[in-house]
Amino acid sequence: MALDEKFALITGSSRGIGRGIALALAQEGVKVAIHYYQNETAAKATLGQVRDHGSDGVLVQADCTRPNAITEMFRSVKAAFGKLDIFVSNARPEVPAFFQPPLDITLEQWDAALDSQAKAFLVGVREALPLMDHGGRILAITYAQGSRTGGVQPWVGMGSAKAALESLVRYFAVTVASRGITVNAISPGWTEDSVLNTLPDQAQQLIRNWHGRGWTPMGRLGTPEDVGNVVTLFCSEKAQWITGQIIYADGGASLMNPEVPPEIQLG
Ligand SMILES: NC(=O)c1ccc[n+]([C@@H]2O[C@H](COP(=O)([O-])OP(=O)(O)OC[C@H]3O[C@@H](n4cnc5c(N)ncnc54)[C@H](OP(=O)(O)O)[C@@H]3O)[C@@H](O)[C@H]2O)c1
Repeated sequence: MALDEKFALITGSSRGIGRGIALALAQEGVKVAIHYYQNETAAKATLGQVRDHGSDGVLVQADCTRPNAITEMFRSVKAAFGKLDIFVSNARPEVPAFFQPPLDITLEQWDAALDSQAKAFLVGVREALPLMDHGGRILAITYAQGSRTGGVQPWVGMGSAKAALESLVRYFAVTVASRGITVNAISPGWTEDSVLNTLPDQAQQLIRNWHGRGWTPMGRLGTPEDVGNVVTLFCSEKAQWITGQIIYADGGASLMNPEVPPEIQLG
């Protein structure tokens, strides 16, 4: 089936990477359910851009830390589209909701991280499957550096949540393989026009300089469009044999050796 006959739900697509995914799919003609939590204005702007790209869609709202709200969101998607071909779990709460080191993180912050990622994916996939036919695509947006390292201490909640999310990707991939549905995770590197732009200016510049001077071999940060293009590739019929994988989409940043300065590695 061509992408222009398909329907997608992308959580957290009011802005940031989710918006990039929505626009990349819209460019291929996919009808998109734009999900937001509080920022309806941004979601409406994304829907406007989806229409500018020649496609169409609807807005849906939910707090992804609340399973009942997720179920309700899927009800709205079913009412609007009648079916679903692509589900992308991308939403993530604002950083203060979970950003604390191991000795300080509150149980509420821990739950916000785990509930928004692993539990939201568990509930979301179970809601998506009855709406999906053979050839469906399920994708989770992860941050695999944070799920396998311990350096950025206040990331402990989200790193643990992403690790659980990645594990679920593998389990669900097996669960639905016989139905011809694939389940994969995309792990972007640092991306412009996203949560990055909410960091203090100095932190943003340090990150851009670090990647620009070689930590990302391609010499720049990613864009929401880069990530959207990768999601689109995975939604193509040609990607039907790839499932249960965590794919880095980061211009090569994950290939670098953290024990050696980039200047030496790049020769
Ligand atoms: N940015 C990066 O450099 C980077 C790198 C690697 C991985 N990632 C991953 O990519 C994904 C998107 O990141 P981003 O930086 O693009 O996000 P972002 O710009 O901070 O946008 C967050 C999105 O999540 C929604 N959201 C916030 N709280 C929510 C809640 N409680 N329930 C449901 N939705 C909620 C927001 O909706 P409203 O607009 O309504 O508030 C918004 O659409 C995340 O999973 C993140 O871990 C990001």
